[in-house]
Amino acid sequence: PLPPAYRVPLPVPAVLSPTDTAGGVDRYEITQRPASVEILPGVRTPMWTYGGGFPGPTIEARRGRTVRVTHHNELPVPTVVHLHGGHTPAESDGYPTDLVLPDGWREPAAHDMPGMDMSGGHGMDDPHAVRTRRTRHYTYPTDQRATLLWYHDHRMDFTAPAIWRGLAGMHLVRDDAENALGLPSGPRELPLMITDRAFAADGTLAYPALDPTLRTTPGVREPYLAGVLGDVILVNGAPWPVHEADAARYRLRILNASNARHYELAAVDDAGRRLDLVQVGADQGLLAAPIRHRSLPVAPAERYDVVLDLAHVPVGGRVRIVNLLGTGRTRDVLAFRIVRRAADRSRIPRTLATDLPTWHRTDAVRVRDMAFRAGRMDGGHGWLIGGRPFDPARPDVTTRLGDVEVWRLVADVHHPVHVHLVGFRVLSRGGRAPLAYDGGLKDTISLRPGESAEIITRFDGYRGRFLFHCHNAEHEDMGMMANLTVT
Ligand code: C2O
Ligand code: CU
Repeated sequence: PLPPAYRVPLPVPAVLSPTDTAGGVDRYEITQRPASVEILPGVRTPMWTYGGGFPGPTIEARRGRTVRVTHHNELPVPTVVHLHGGHTPAESDGYPTDLVLPDGWREPAAHDMPGMDMSGGHGMDDPHAVRTRRTRHYTYPTDQRATLLWYHDHRMDFTAPAIWRGLAGMHLVRDDAENALGLPSGPRELPLMITDRAFAADGTLAYPALDPTLRTTPGVREPYLAGVLGDVILVNGAPWPVHEADAARYRLRILNASNARHYELAAVDDAGRRLDLVQVGADQGLLAAPIRHRSLPVAPAERYDVVLDLAHVPVGGRVRIVNLLGTGRTRDVLAFRIVRRAADRSRIPRTLATDLPTWHRTDAVRVRDMAFRAGRMDGGHGWLIGGRPFDPARPDVTTRLGDVEVWRLVADVHHPVHVHLVGFRVLSRGGRAPLAYDGGLKDTISLRPGESAEIITRFDGYRGRFLFHCHNAEHEDMGMMANLTVT
């Protein structure tokens, strides 16, 4: 019973209230639990949720104030929380084996869970986590640029199905410099989590897991090894929603939280004309200056901060955000229906930010080559980095705090590559200058089939063990991840 496009109102996930704000620390509590969520109109879909809904509640953080989120696990499986794009100390970064265990969890035999850290070792130094592993505190110092981050499950071998079942939410970082710009705000700023999902006839989520309990055997069935796609496009958990809008500028905080689907978004009016998408920010915050796009490719885990000007759309008119890569119903994403003329004091300043890092190639103390390619793993199909599948016990990249490095990435098929801890800049793509949408500070780069790219970053802030990986979530679960250790 799929609804027609552009009938369901666009939901905006509630902003979570802190339980306490004393001492410069904003404390939050989230209970991870099964819940029945209305995604398709009139249908209850059983999901795994952060706090009972999908997406989870939005956390609004202030730069310079610590956020401390206490997660309680009432799901039937272990979980791990990662704040994607967070400049986070290792013990709160959600390493895949730093589990929050459910009540009465009996650890499967070691051979059932390859890579599971049976010592309970790394990162279990949090005294609360040791006392009761159903609960874990994650601390985010929020010493980073204002931007849209997101939190999602990151459990060893089972990240993709856990996100698919609903373990994803948004996390905004705000700061004074951004507020002073005068970009559209309040009801004219919309966080948009775009995901695709597939549903069975009874309204349950369809996912081709080898073990639907997600307890022991990871992986997906044979035809899905390249990644799992759904035929229903959800924005903030609603299928092809519509938003009643003023004829004014809107700031869209776009996040592609899909497991494997790429989008190329364009705004189209009733006459079929394109409206520009004016990009003001990338994964890791504001650009130096706005960039106009006719369309915007968005790979899994990427965020784009764009302003869409609806001022010239007549009342009663509609602007659709469509996916140029889609076919049939995956071409539709979201629509704005203009319901009133309205004053608009917002602006898009010509200079947005002056704090972008300006690392130069010659600053790099080393250059690393990394190939993201299919290969063999445990006698079957895998996705590998440098010919090897992920092994928590093996150091892969070890760097020193403060070092600048250039990474040369190369891909066989499409791989969105994400690095934890740091933001990076794109130096080149396919041997040429970066593309228009590579601007700003990124934490995920969309490597297209057969493509190479160079990125540059400085490993700053925290020592410890982090990760980098493909953010096609199925690729990630099938080995395409590696350790990044900062010493
Ligand atoms: Cu969004 Cu390591 O992940
Ligand atoms: Cu990949």
